Order: sequence, then structure tokens, then C-alpha cells
Amino acid sequence: MCGIVGYLGPKSVDSVLIVGLTRLEYRGYDSAGIAVLDKNEIVVRKEKGKIKDLEELLLSHPVEGNVGIGHTRWATHGEPNRQNAHPHIDTAGSTAVVHNGIVENHHALRLELIDKGHVFHTETDTEVIPHLFEQYYKELKDAPKALKATVDRLEGRFAFVLLLDKFPDRLFFARNGSPLVYGKGRGESFLASDVSAIVPAAKEHFHIENDQWGWITKDGLHLHNGTSEPLPFELTRTQFDVKTLDRGGYEHFMLKEIHEQPGIIRGIIQNRLNDEGLVTLPEMQLPNDFLNRVTRCIITSAGTSWHAGIVGKFYLEQFARLSTEVDISSEFRYRNPIADGETLVVAISQSGETADTLAGIHQAKAKFCRVLSFVNVTTSSIARESEAFIDLMAGPEIGVASTKAYTAQVMSLLLYAQFMGGIKWLGSKEDRLAILREIRLLPEKMERILARAEELKHWAHELRDSKDFVFLGRQHNHPTALEGALKLKEIAYVHASGYAGGEFKHGPIALISDQIPVVCIAPRGELYEKMISNIEEVRSRKGRILSICTEGDEMVRSKSDFCFEIPECPDYLSPLLAVIPLQLFAYYSALERGCEPDQPRNLAKSVTVE
Ligand code: M6R
Repeated sequence: MCGIVGYLGPKSVDSVLIVGLTRLEYRGYDSAGIAVLDKNEIVVRKEKGKIKDLEELLLSHPVEGNVGIGHTRWATHGEPNRQNAHPHIDTAGSTAVVHNGIVENHHALRLELIDKGHVFHTETDTEVIPHLFEQYYKELKDAPKALKATVDRLEGRFAFVLLLDKFPDRLFFARNGSPLVYGKGRGESFLASDVSAIVPAAKEHFHIENDQWGWITKDGLHLHNGTSEPLPFELTRTQFDVKTLDRGGYEHFMLKEIHEQPGIIRGIIQNRLNDEGLVTLPEMQLPNDFLNRVTRCIITSAGTSWHAGIVGKFYLEQFARLSTEVDISSEFRYRNPIADGETLVVAISQSGETADTLAGIHQAKAKFCRVLSFVNVTTSSIARESEAFIDLMAGPEIGVASTKAYTAQVMSLLLYAQFMGGIKWLGSKEDRLAILREIRLLPEKMERILARAEELKHWAHELRDSKDFVFLGRQHNHPTALEGALKLKEIAYVHASGYAGGEFKHGPIALISDQIPVVCIAPRGELYEKMISNIEEVRSRKGRILSICTEGDEMVRSKSDFCFEIPECPDYLSPLLAVIPLQLFAYYSALERGCEPDQPRNLAKSVTVE
């Protein structure tokens, strides 16, 4: 939800900002802009569209300087056009701001400032920030004091960076709710929404906390909070493999990330499971006596992470006999759930920055619940605000559609359920070893599926004109149906709905005609026969069947228009395999329909607004 970056140092600031913004483009890509101090004057360049459009503008309208700020936008207030693109400036053109978040009281502030003679040019909430600063600077004649006064007036979540023409050697910043990291290089300093924007130059970094504000010079960070005393802080050595930000020869990040799944699952198994089938979670610092007392879990998450949570519910109930609810974060945060100190709240988030999930964590903590989060970014707000976290170990996920993080979430939830089962002395050593044997076979089975990606390309081509899809699955694969439908909607812009197979006859079956392909997830297992009934129901109404079934299942194949076989596995592992062909189908459908899979319209990778 918007990416921001700031730079002070010897390099040409426009190139540093463009590199940083390109890395942050996953956070929003409807418009972009930079402001540079060019011969003591703030020069702004902004453009509707992606960073490459901004780059083109800079070729025809270059800027020069060594200090500046940049922004890539996911619009909240005001149409995504050049005018509403950041940076925004004050009336005198002396202050420029880039901002990530929402200023909730912007309307009242705008009216107050207009009364005082400020002139506004955009529809954005952000524009009040440079004007407020301008006003307070005029009154207080002191930049830090004016910044603090500005911050005190803002309601909502924000991280922003200010460029001032009167301070060519500083960039000012403030954070409350949206992420902001300071990076220190050799004689240069950075600010950014995440560390990926400033590597490898930022050798060390520090995550700015909520309610902190201050400024950077090329030599360091000056940090404050409510008091006027500078705050101490400790820099961390930056360890970030820049290669993970590369498409690695794949046409899109999404395809690369789909193909990374076997390796990621292999890594999780190696790190977490010993030869006895015992699970180790060294980073999860929740005391065993508390975990032993837990009888109830509430999982809260959004989108794809919510689907992983539904699979997790099956695992926690099956392997740890823990009564588990799963709630969409944006519902959980407002529903005043019945929960107390013996309830474990589990938050799942790839980015660790999803505003709804974060707000749910605050709710849970207010009820004295302990919060355990499953995150892919271990320095994220969700990781830091939870009592303990489990690292998903999926590596940076850049494609907006979540793929490898999903399978890493499902795998981590499975192992966590095993771990909890162990704490509660459930399951024998033989059970554990049998599960271990099956889990160890997974990566190779995933590879076998990926090797047949062409079959899904063929599906996508043949079904390129279909406008609606239905996805059906039962139990562990109900969430797979939801996830398959979500993938198709978000990157190929095709309407699709996922249902639990048994629920289909209670209404959605009315949709079926020869125009509606139905994806039936029907691997062999406990509810296999029930899925066959679903297939028959669709066939008898002339619906087209696309099935995901177990290798060698001639019966399902004979009843299907298209059939993709996945290797045999126990029920509880089938979501990890069955989802892969659906990810590939969505990916190729996006290409068939001329859509850009890595950056689908209207979306952003991390949703840091409500
Ligand atoms: O970062 P999170 O896992 O908290 O994100 C949650 C959702 O926004 C995310 O899964 C979204 O639904 C993806 N675009 C799905 O592919």
C-alpha cells in the first residue's frame, strides 16, 4: 500500500530512488513520483502509471541532486492520476512529502488550513501534511518542533518523509503504524518502506518504531519520540540476498515463486523436523506450560492467508485436538470475540503488515490473549507486535498473488499442529514417523506437478473465453477451492467462486450450464465418493468438468472434460499438492487474457490500510 524511499548521499538521487521504488512497486503501482533538491530548489517529477513511466518522464525532464524522496502509489484518496501522485508540496513549494497510510482527519485539517490561506491542489489526504508542517514551521521557526506539532495533529496510520529546501543535509520522517526503515551505507543514508529497497548499499539498518520521528543526515539517524531527548537505537547488520529480488530467468515473479515451492517446503522440513518426526520451532518463544493449558485457538488472517488458516483449523483439530475458529481479520477486529488468557490467537500474514490483521492483534491483546503469528517477514509489524512468531521461511514474495507463501503457511501450520500435539502427548511415535515419511515425499511430488505445467497452459488456452468458474472441494480442499477461485479472480479478472462440495446443492448449483466450467478437486481420500457425486451433479446439468484427481484415477478422468493428476498422498497433505495446478491455471489464464500477473489492477501486495 504505497512504497516510500528517501536518500541522502553522494550518488545521483534520481537513480537511487528509481531502484528503490522499483523494488517497492509490489506495494502499489498506479502512479509514482520523486522530489529532488536541485540547486536548493525542490523539483517534483510525477507520473500516472508504473515506475517505468516515471523513468521515461525523467529522461525527457531530468533532475539533478543528491537528496530526495520517492513514492509509488496505491490510491486511497483521489483518483490515480498525475496530480494526486506523491510527492505533495506546501503552498510555498518549500516542503515535499511522501506518505504511506491514511490521515483519517484530513478533511477537518484541510478546512482549517484553507482558512489560514493554504492552497491545496489534490484530492489526497496526504496533502495536509506539508501544509501543516509549513504552518507550524512559520509559527515555531524550528523544524523538529514543527514536525512534532504536525505529527501530534495527525490521526490514522502513517509513515512519511519530508524534504525541506531549507535543510539540504537532512530528511525528516515520522512513523505511526506504517512501516519505515532507516538504512546506513558508507557516507549515505536511506529511509524506505522496507529493507529490500535499499540493499545492498545499506549495510546496517534500524526499524523505526511507532510514535518515533526524527531526521537523517548522510552520516546517521537522529531519533526521537514524545520527549525532546534523542533516543538510543541499535543498528542491525543487513542480511538480504539481493538475488531473491530477481526473476531468475522466469518471465514473471509469480511463475518463479510457484516453481520455488518444492525447495521452500524442503527447507522448512530440514529446519523444523528431526529424524524422529519431532518438530522444532526455536524462534517461537511461548512457554510450554501456557501451550499446555491452551484449549482453544482463534486464527485471524486475510485473503490467501485466511485460506491457509482454514486448512490450519483442520490440522489443529486433527493433530492437537484444539478447538479452533478461523476468522477473516477485518471481521475479527470488530466482532468482540469471546476470548481470554487461555485462548491462543494465531495471526497469519505473508507481509506481516496487513492493517486488518494487525488491528485484530491489538484487539486480542486488549483481551489478554497471547498472540502467535505466522509471518514471512520476521521484522514486520505483525511479528513485532505478537508475543511470538513462526518464520514461514518462504523468502521474499514479490508477485502480488500469493503462491509460495500459501504453501509455506499450510506446511508451517501442519508442523505447528504436530508440535502442539506433542506438547499434549497426543499421537504415538509410530504416527509421528508415518507423518514424517509422507511429508518428506512432498517436495518431489510437487516437482512432478510442476514438470507438467504445459497441461495447465492448455486448459487456460481452451477456456480462454469462459467468463465464470466454480471451484468445488471438501474438507482440507474446501480452502483449496477458495484459493483457486481467488487466484483466477485476482490475476486473470475472471469471476470465480469456491464452495464446499456439500454446500453446492444448497443454491450455487443453479448457476450450472454448459457455459460454466466447474473445477472439482477430487483426490482419493475420505470424501472421494462425495466429490464423485458432485461431479455427477454437474455433468447431469451439462456443466464442464475440470478435475484435479489422484494419479491413475481413470474414473474421474472419464467423467471430466479436462483432468490433471496429482501424486497420491494422505488427505491432510493434498491441499499442498492440489493448489499448485490451480496457481498455474490462474497464471496461464492471466497470460491468455492479456493480464499482467505480477501486478494485477487495483491490488497491492501488502494492504496496510483498512
Ligand atoms: O500479507 P498478508 O498475508 O497478510 O496478505 C493478506 C492478503 O492481502 C493476501 O493474501 C491477498 O489476498 C493476496 N493478494 C492473495 O493472493
